[in-house]
Amino acid sequence: MANKHYSVPSFLLTNYFFLFLLSSSSPSSAFPLSTSSRWIVDDAAGGQRVKLACVNLVSHLEPMVAEGLSKLPIETIAEKIGSMGFNCVRLTWPIYLVTDESLSSLTVRQSFQRLGLIDTAAGIQANNPDIVDLPLLQAFQQVVSTLGENNIMVILDNHITTPGWCCSNDDGNGFFNDRYFDPNLWLTGLTRMATLFNGSTAVVGMSLRNELRGPKQNTQDWYKYMQQGAEAVHAANPNVLVVVSGLNYDKDLSFLSSRMVKLSFGKKLVFEAHWYGFTDGQAWADGNANEVCGRVSGNMKRMSGFLLEAGYPLFFSEFGIDQGGGNLNDNRYINCFLGYVAEFDLDWAYWTIVGSYYLRQGVAGWSESYGLLDRDWVEPRNRSFIERISAVQMPFRGPGLVERRQHQVIFHPSTGKCVQRGRTFMDPLKLGPCPESDPWSYSRGTLSQVGTYFCLKADQLGKAVQLDLDCSNWQMISDSKMHVSSKLKDGTSVCMDVDSDGEIVANPCKCLSKDKSCEPESQWFKLVNSTRAPITGSKGESFLFLVRDLIWKFLELGLFHIGRMFVQVVSRIV
Ligand SMILES: *[C@@H]1O[C@H](CO)[C@@H](O)[C@H](O)[C@H]1NC(C)=O
Ligand SMILES: *[C@@H]1O[C@H](CO)[C@@H](O)[C@H](O)[C@H]1NC(C)=O
Ligand SMILES: *[C@@H]1O[C@H](CO)[C@@H](O)[C@H](O)[C@H]1NC(C)=O
Repeated sequence: MANKHYSVPSFLLTNYFFLFLLSSSSPSSAFPLSTSSRWIVDDAAGGQRVKLACVNLVSHLEPMVAEGLSKLPIETIAEKIGSMGFNCVRLTWPIYLVTDESLSSLTVRQSFQRLGLIDTAAGIQANNPDIVDLPLLQAFQQVVSTLGENNIMVILDNHITTPGWCCSNDDGNGFFNDRYFDPNLWLTGLTRMATLFNGSTAVVGMSLRNELRGPKQNTQDWYKYMQQGAEAVHAANPNVLVVVSGLNYDKDLSFLSSRMVKLSFGKKLVFEAHWYGFTDGQAWADGNANEVCGRVSGNMKRMSGFLLEAGYPLFFSEFGIDQGGGNLNDNRYINCFLGYVAEFDLDWAYWTIVGSYYLRQGVAGWSESYGLLDRDWVEPRNRSFIERISAVQMPFRGPGLVERRQHQVIFHPSTGKCVQRGRTFMDPLKLGPCPESDPWSYSRGTLSQVGTYFCLKADQLGKAVQLDLDCSNWQMISDSKMHVSSKLKDGTSVCMDVDSDGEIVANPCKCLSKDKSCEPESQWFKLVNSTRAPITGSKGESFLFLVRDLIWKFLELGLFHIGRMFVQVVSRIV
């Protein structure tokens, strides 16, 4: 197990008791990282997969200081990130931090004073007295090393040239040879940053440039400069992963399907892509969620997803939603996105941990509605969201993670949980934590519980989906392919759904097409390939459960034989 790379959110510890024991038992270093086909792996750990479950920490705005330091000590920020289950930070920086002496020689205090942010400087003095009088670049190094000391891997992301909020088509930072995007200055900046962290075990990757965009963008220059940038970073720091972004705000890498980048080195190249609800405007709010999910994920496969099959890791380095829960477009998108991430078991970085910015677009203390932390950086804005994404922090599969034969877990994105059997085979199926999920197998319409003779059956409308020896034929339907549907004896179509107690029931299928006003999310499931053994957690703790399992096994065998005899008898009669 990649123990270190999957730390468990502290508020889930009761559920994840066993995982906690495992994850605290062997502190191992995940450095350096490299790639093995589509996986990011830790060579020192025998090539075991490391899944990047990151959060973006912003350090590219006008002050050029990692956000949050006026609210909390940097150690506390690092601990919070780890306690929410993230193993990594994508830390943004502007080129000027290493190329403009008049800026980089400022101390943190001076940088805030220059912007008139006197209270913020006082907040940093109070929370981070060791940092407040450091020059900006040293403060940046201090942030990186503190993250590293807390087992948080760092990916340095060149976000922009000039410090400030990013990105628009006409901000002069969009593409090579834009007003503020001198390719030579950029190469110098990348080289300096890579050199500065050559030897640092905290920095595992560097991404070359965020969200290329604007009227000048073209593939010819993209190949020319991105290859130069990749070579520059690798020459200065051969240990880091080199993370390469595409065109059109990091949405489009489709041109690589006809021509791959050519680099002098191997095993370090990772591609990154961004996907928000607003990437497709208001399509989610304006359309039928199934149709939009089908269309948008198909598009994502053509734009970037194809790279996995081509043998390259794909890092979804930005995604996020309004944490308040009131943004319909975001709410529909995130269920589809989480299904996609789980299905392909992608590496990702949430935007953002930041609860509020020192200064964004001229507004001091801007509260970030997509931020995981609240304005004061104290509590999560939305605890249930963090619980929900914990399901995809865990790797489902990959090199070194084969604990049992490939099977499926039945993931429910809108809760972040997975389908489990009940306490006995007669109890209804229910949702539970994905690491404890029972292994299922899906083959030619039959959804069965691995290692047993039981399979899923829908008997009556509105009633529980049961384990049975007589199986329903289940198909993934609608454009989203996320409705798990079968037919009752009388021919009525039903879909797997979740009732208010978290039990799995067979309901009429909802909003399969056209209807723009209804929400299919409770009926959205994804069958996810996994090679992980279920963590038994509290299930395995008592003698009674052992007895129960023995009885279960006994009944199961008994029933199977009775069932088989019955079938034989019936087939003789017929
Ligand atoms: C990077 O560090 C390694 C030692 O870890 C050293 O051998 C190499 O020369 C350094 N590269 C540069 C460009 O400084
Ligand atoms: C958290 O998000 C959910 C939807 O994802 C929403 O229903 C809920 O109101 C949000 N909670 C808070 C405290 O904003
Ligand atoms: C899941 O496994 C099946 C069977 O091996 C395979 O056909 C399918 O492509 C896999 N899905 C993904 C997303 O890798």
